[in-house]
Amino acid sequence: MTTAVCPGSFDPITLGHVNIFERASEMFDEVTVLVTGNPEKPSGLFSVHERMDLIRQSVDARINVDYWSGLLVDYTSQHGVDVLVKGLRSSLDYEYELPMAQMNRELADVETIFLLTDPRFAHVSSSLVKEVAKLGGDVTPFLSAHVHKSLMSRLS
Ligand code: PNS
Repeated sequence: MTTAVCPGSFDPITLGHVNIFERASEMFDEVTVLVTGNPEKPSGLFSVHERMDLIRQSVDARINVDYWSGLLVDYTSQHGVDVLVKGLRSSLDYEYELPMAQMNRELADVETIFLLTDPRFAHVSSSLVKEVAKLGGDVTPFLSAHVHKSLMSRLS
Protein backbone atom coordinates (compact mmCIF):
# COMPACT_ATOMS: atom_id res chain seq x y z
CA MET A 1 0.00 0.00 0.00
CA THR A 2 1.37 3.40 -0.99
CA THR A 3 0.56 6.31 1.27
CA ALA A 4 0.91 9.93 0.21
CA VAL A 5 0.81 13.24 2.03
CA CYS A 6 -0.03 16.59 0.44
CA PRO A 7 1.46 19.18 2.81
CA GLY A 8 0.86 22.92 2.82
CA SER A 9 -0.58 25.88 4.63
CA PHE A 10 -3.90 25.92 2.71
CA ASP A 11 -5.05 29.29 4.10
CA PRO A 12 -7.58 28.66 2.61
CA ILE A 13 -7.83 25.65 0.27
CA THR A 14 -8.42 26.61 -3.38
CA LEU A 15 -9.85 24.60 -6.28
CA GLY A 16 -6.25 24.23 -7.50
CA HIS A 17 -5.44 22.32 -4.30
CA VAL A 18 -8.61 20.23 -4.60
CA ASN A 19 -7.61 19.22 -8.13
CA ILE A 20 -4.18 18.04 -6.92
CA PHE A 21 -5.67 16.09 -3.99
CA GLU A 22 -8.21 14.34 -6.24
CA ARG A 23 -5.54 13.38 -8.75
CA ALA A 24 -3.27 12.13 -5.95
CA SER A 25 -6.11 10.01 -4.56
CA GLU A 26 -6.39 8.28 -7.94
CA MET A 27 -2.68 7.45 -7.86
CA PHE A 28 -2.11 6.37 -4.25
CA ASP A 29 -3.90 4.00 -1.87
CA GLU A 30 -4.15 6.48 0.97
CA VAL A 31 -3.87 10.26 0.77
CA THR A 32 -3.64 12.70 3.67
CA VAL A 33 -3.84 16.45 3.29
CA LEU A 34 -1.53 17.79 5.98
CA VAL A 35 -2.04 21.33 7.21
CA THR A 36 1.26 22.62 8.52
CA GLY A 37 1.02 25.04 11.39
CA ASN A 38 0.63 25.26 15.13
CA PRO A 39 -2.97 25.49 16.41
CA GLU A 40 -1.63 27.11 19.60
CA LYS A 41 0.10 29.90 17.66
CA PRO A 42 -2.46 31.24 15.20
CA SER A 43 -1.09 32.76 12.02
CA GLY A 44 -2.85 33.51 8.78
CA LEU A 45 -6.47 34.27 8.08
CA PHE A 46 -7.92 30.92 9.20
CA SER A 47 -6.82 28.82 12.18
CA VAL A 48 -5.35 25.39 11.55
CA HIS A 49 -8.62 23.74 12.64
CA GLU A 50 -10.69 26.04 10.42
CA ARG A 51 -8.44 25.19 7.47
CA MET A 52 -8.89 21.48 8.20
CA ASP A 53 -12.69 21.88 8.31
CA LEU A 54 -12.68 23.75 5.00
CA ILE A 55 -10.56 20.99 3.45
CA ARG A 56 -12.83 18.23 4.82
CA GLN A 57 -15.83 19.94 3.24
CA SER A 58 -13.98 20.24 -0.10
CA VAL A 59 -12.64 16.74 -0.66
CA ASP A 60 -13.88 13.17 -0.89
CA ALA A 61 -14.28 11.51 2.54
CA ARG A 62 -11.64 8.93 1.55
CA ILE A 63 -8.99 11.66 1.75
CA ASN A 64 -7.69 12.14 5.30
CA VAL A 65 -7.02 15.54 6.81
CA ASP A 66 -4.46 16.08 9.56
CA TYR A 67 -2.15 18.78 10.88
CA TRP A 68 1.47 18.96 11.95
CA SER A 69 3.43 21.72 13.63
CA GLY A 70 6.86 20.12 13.50
CA LEU A 71 9.34 19.01 10.89
CA LEU A 72 7.51 17.46 7.96
CA VAL A 73 9.82 14.44 7.78
CA ASP A 74 9.08 13.61 11.43
CA TYR A 75 5.43 13.22 10.40
CA THR A 76 6.31 11.10 7.36
CA SER A 77 8.60 8.84 9.42
CA GLN A 78 6.13 8.44 12.28
CA HIS A 79 3.22 7.67 9.94
CA GLY A 80 5.06 5.52 7.38
CA VAL A 81 4.40 7.95 4.54
CA ASP A 82 5.87 6.87 1.18
CA VAL A 83 5.65 10.07 -0.85
CA LEU A 84 4.95 13.77 -0.58
CA VAL A 85 2.78 15.22 -3.34
CA LYS A 86 2.97 18.86 -4.41
CA GLY A 87 1.44 20.83 -7.24
CA LEU A 88 3.70 22.73 -9.62
CA ARG A 89 2.24 25.84 -11.25
CA SER A 90 5.40 27.29 -12.75
CA SER A 91 9.18 27.42 -12.64
CA LEU A 92 8.82 29.71 -9.60
CA ASP A 93 7.13 26.88 -7.71
CA TYR A 94 9.87 24.55 -8.90
CA GLU A 95 12.60 26.84 -7.54
CA TYR A 96 10.75 27.05 -4.20
CA GLU A 97 10.00 23.34 -3.97
CA LEU A 98 13.28 21.85 -5.19
CA PRO A 99 15.41 22.54 -2.08
CA MET A 100 12.62 21.32 0.21
CA ALA A 101 12.24 18.12 -1.79
CA GLN A 102 16.00 17.53 -1.74
CA MET A 103 16.19 18.30 1.98
CA ASN A 104 13.30 15.99 2.84
CA ARG A 105 14.85 13.21 0.77
CA GLU A 106 18.20 13.62 2.48
CA LEU A 107 16.67 13.85 5.97
CA ALA A 108 14.26 10.93 5.73
CA ASP A 109 14.62 9.28 2.33
CA VAL A 110 11.11 10.43 1.44
CA GLU A 111 10.37 11.13 -2.22
CA THR A 112 8.44 14.16 -3.48
CA ILE A 113 6.24 13.77 -6.52
CA PHE A 114 5.14 16.86 -8.42
CA LEU A 115 1.86 17.02 -10.29
CA LEU A 116 1.58 19.74 -12.90
CA THR A 117 -1.20 22.13 -11.97
CA ASP A 118 -4.22 22.06 -14.22
CA PRO A 119 -3.84 25.15 -16.48
CA ARG A 120 -7.24 26.38 -15.20
CA PHE A 121 -5.60 26.98 -11.84
CA ALA A 122 -2.05 27.94 -12.88
CA HIS A 123 -2.53 31.52 -11.62
CA VAL A 124 -4.40 30.61 -8.42
CA SER A 125 -2.82 30.78 -4.97
CA SER A 126 -4.33 31.22 -1.52
CA SER A 127 -2.45 34.48 -1.01
CA LEU A 128 -3.50 35.97 -4.36
CA VAL A 129 -7.11 34.92 -3.82
CA LYS A 130 -7.09 36.60 -0.39
CA GLU A 131 -5.59 39.78 -1.81
CA VAL A 132 -8.10 39.97 -4.68
CA ALA A 133 -11.01 39.24 -2.32
CA LYS A 134 -9.84 41.85 0.22
CA LEU A 135 -9.85 44.47 -2.53
CA GLY A 136 -13.33 43.53 -3.72
CA GLY A 137 -12.48 41.27 -6.69
CA ASP A 138 -14.54 38.22 -7.62
CA VAL A 139 -12.83 35.04 -6.48
CA THR A 140 -15.78 32.67 -6.94
CA PRO A 141 -14.07 30.77 -9.83
CA PHE A 142 -11.18 29.76 -7.59
CA LEU A 143 -12.89 28.44 -4.46
CA SER A 144 -15.51 25.90 -3.40
CA ALA A 145 -18.77 27.64 -2.51
CA HIS A 146 -18.40 27.04 1.23
CA VAL A 147 -14.77 28.27 1.22
CA HIS A 148 -15.88 31.40 -0.65
CA LYS A 149 -18.62 31.98 1.93
CA SER A 150 -16.16 31.56 4.83
CA LEU A 151 -13.63 33.86 3.19
CA MET A 152 -16.19 36.60 2.54
CA SER A 153 -17.47 36.34 6.09
CA ARG A 154 -13.92 36.44 7.52
CA LEU A 155 -13.04 39.52 5.48
CA SER A 156 -16.25 41.43 6.23
O1 PNS B 1 1.79 26.23 1.58
P1 PNS B 1 3.27 26.16 1.34
O2 PNS B 1 3.98 27.40 1.75
O3 PNS B 1 3.61 25.76 -0.06
O4 PNS B 1 3.80 24.95 2.25
C1 PNS B 1 5.19 24.74 2.47
C2 PNS B 1 5.34 23.71 3.57
C3 PNS B 1 4.39 24.06 4.72
C4 PNS B 1 4.97 22.36 3.03
C5 PNS B 1 6.78 23.70 4.09
O5 PNS B 1 7.08 24.96 4.59
C6 PNS B 1 7.01 22.65 5.17
O6 PNS B 1 7.27 21.52 4.85
N1 PNS B 1 6.84 23.05 6.47
C7 PNS B 1 6.96 22.14 7.60
C8 PNS B 1 8.26 22.40 8.37
C9 PNS B 1 9.44 21.73 7.67
O7 PNS B 1 9.54 20.52 7.60
N2 PNS B 1 10.34 22.57 7.11
C10 PNS B 1 11.49 22.11 6.39
C11 PNS B 1 11.12 21.81 4.93
S1 PNS B 1 12.48 21.13 4.02
